[in-house]
Amino acid sequence: MPRTKVAGIGMYVPENIFTNNDLLKYMETTDEWIEERTGIRERRYANRTTETTTTMGVEAAKIAIERAGITAADIDFIIFATLSPDYYFPGCGVLVQRAMKMKEIGALDIRNQCSGFLYGLSVADQFIKTGMYKNILLIGSEKHSFGLDMTTRGRNISVIFGDGAGAVVLQPTEESGRGILSTHLHSDGESAEILAMYNPGTHANHWGKYADFDDAEIAQMFMSNKMVDDAQNFPFMDGPAVFKKAIVKFPEVIKESLEANGYLASDINMLIPHQANLRIAQFVQQKLGLKDEQVFNNIQRYGNTTAASVPIALCEAWQEGKIKEGDLVCLAAFGSGFTWASALLKW
Ligand code: COA
Repeated sequence: MPRTKVAGIGMYVPENIFTNNDLLKYMETTDEWIEERTGIRERRYANRTTETTTTMGVEAAKIAIERAGITAADIDFIIFATLSPDYYFPGCGVLVQRAMKMKEIGALDIRNQCSGFLYGLSVADQFIKTGMYKNILLIGSEKHSFGLDMTTRGRNISVIFGDGAGAVVLQPTEESGRGILSTHLHSDGESAEILAMYNPGTHANHWGKYADFDDAEIAQMFMSNKMVDDAQNFPFMDGPAVFKKAIVKFPEVIKESLEANGYLASDINMLIPHQANLRIAQFVQQKLGLKDEQVFNNIQRYGNTTAASVPIALCEAWQEGKIKEGDLVCLAAFGSGFTWASALLKW
């Protein structure tokens, strides 16, 4: 059975740099608070009229496709991971298919937030190993800047997120010792609501608030003025609770990938953690006993780009020559759901 290799990788971040100090215009916060708690100094915000989650994904995809030495016409399946799609439906995969004038290939959208890219990688790996597809385009892209509460009310979340996209072209390889060794996926829905965007959604009556509404009123509950007034169209996060769970599950799922393949943490050439918070990544590094040169972080410049953060960090690490052929690379993510995942690969 072939393994799956990354044949090409690309990333795209908007030109517009938004520093911590730029946030002061909108909310009560400080550069010091943000940097001390999260490591973030600046993030990118998409051009408000020309860039969408899909267009950023397409820009990253063009680079990945060119680096793989193929054309868009060779892609036989698209997987798109995002929590900030251009439309509630349809997903961004079909918009990529249209924008890149691809054949009438399959397009799958994945809604697993921070672990979305790794879930996509795992799905692609299965399709490639079974011989179903030969050139899968996997994109992680987010345009958070269109959906944040930029007032003091939303400051614990809004300061964290940024926009950007990363993409890989995945192909089969018969080269021994190369490619994805294993992927590991997990979830625990017990705390689904502590990192979530509640509306638009179909749960409204489930919360009991609308029990007295008639059917016509309920039919409009997907998105109401009241929800907007209550800021329910913005993400909600219990930051400390997320932090506590993340620092347990990140090391656990990384160790799981190492143990499945007979490796130790010291064997890792590069760990690419989802860029949730620099403090989380530092805790994970310490817990696993990894040296600085074994872990890549770029959250300082891009913030948390959710489904895009792993491919953006992977791409930058590779572009900077920090990942070379034959290196043992571990990718890991944790986020809303909760869902968490890892992948171990030989580059
Ligand atoms: N600027 C200044 N003060 C802020 C602030 C901001 N941007 N955001 C929150 N605060 C305040 C709070 O209002 C609170 O004030 P109070 O003590 O007077 O009530 C205080 O800072 C502490 O808030 P808390 O939420 O307990 O802060 P924290 O130390 O836990 O840090 C996070 C907040 C979000 C940085 C931290 O919890 C975190 O990083 N969690 C993980 C989040 C994450 O990784 N999310 C992505 C998952 S993929």
